[in-house]
Amino acid sequence: MTSSAELRDIAVTIAKRAATLAQQRRRDGVEIAASKSSVSDIVTRADRESEDLIRGALAAARPADGFFGEESGGDAGTSGLTWVVDPIDGTVNYAYGIPAYAVSIAVVEGEPDPTTWRTLAGAVVNPESGDVFAAAAGRGSTLNGQALRVNEGVELPLALVGTGFGYDAGVRRRQAEFVARLIGEVRDIRRIGSAALDLCALAAGRLDAYYERGLNPWDHAAGALVAREAGARVGGLDGGPEDGRLLLAAAPALYEVLEPMVQEFFGAWE
Ligand code: IPD
Repeated sequence: MTSSAELRDIAVTIAKRAATLAQQRRRDGVEIAASKSSVSDIVTRADRESEDLIRGALAAARPADGFFGEESGGDAGTSGLTWVVDPIDGTVNYAYGIPAYAVSIAVVEGEPDPTTWRTLAGAVVNPESGDVFAAAAGRGSTLNGQALRVNEGVELPLALVGTGFGYDAGVRRRQAEFVARLIGEVRDIRRIGSAALDLCALAAGRLDAYYERGLNPWDHAAGALVAREAGARVGGLDGGPEDGRLLLAAAPALYEVLEPMVQEFFGAWE
């Protein structure tokens, strides 16, 4: 059986190749291929090329595993493992030339459902900064080979909190209502524009907490493992696992302070 460290190394190798391709396509000029759920939810030609590269490389290296990607959907495998892929997380940053986008690749055991899966390994690569985040279950997480640890002992008023917004206008307005409440309680808010990089930033001590409603599994699969392996607690509503209704991540003590606040607001969101 392949170890989680070997799976991590496969994720890193393939994510680096896809990140180089995405960066090259960015330099060639971005072509918007389609709009998805709303006019701001775009897919670039590079998203598709990046996913094709990843899918092909995984099919060659791990033919029995399943695949679940943002752009091309899913294929069940026979091994019980599934690769969960966001070919470019931070697509709007990518389209605007903001250097905060990443290729995110995770491998999970079980169905590609964050409420039941067990994430074994993951990689998040930002080609613009050269940051390569990697994690293997039970073996810690790294940034360019250096071990990561979340900030501990940060009180709420000094916490730098990341979040994000969905693409639907009505959803964004409600998300902004919660930001309006929180912003007076914390050091400041960041909206980086890539959930995968937000979670890795938390792991690297560049944020103290991160939460978002409305994430898709591929947005957080790898980043959540990087954060957990750096000591973060990651969860969702009602003390359960993270899912599309909520992902909250922070060092355990800060998590306990934030949890009732997010629970009150997002728990009441039908
Ligand atoms: C988006 C980014 C963004 C988050 C959105 C995601 P995409 O992913 O992660 O930061 O706020 O919820 O959908 O569309 O760039 O792959």
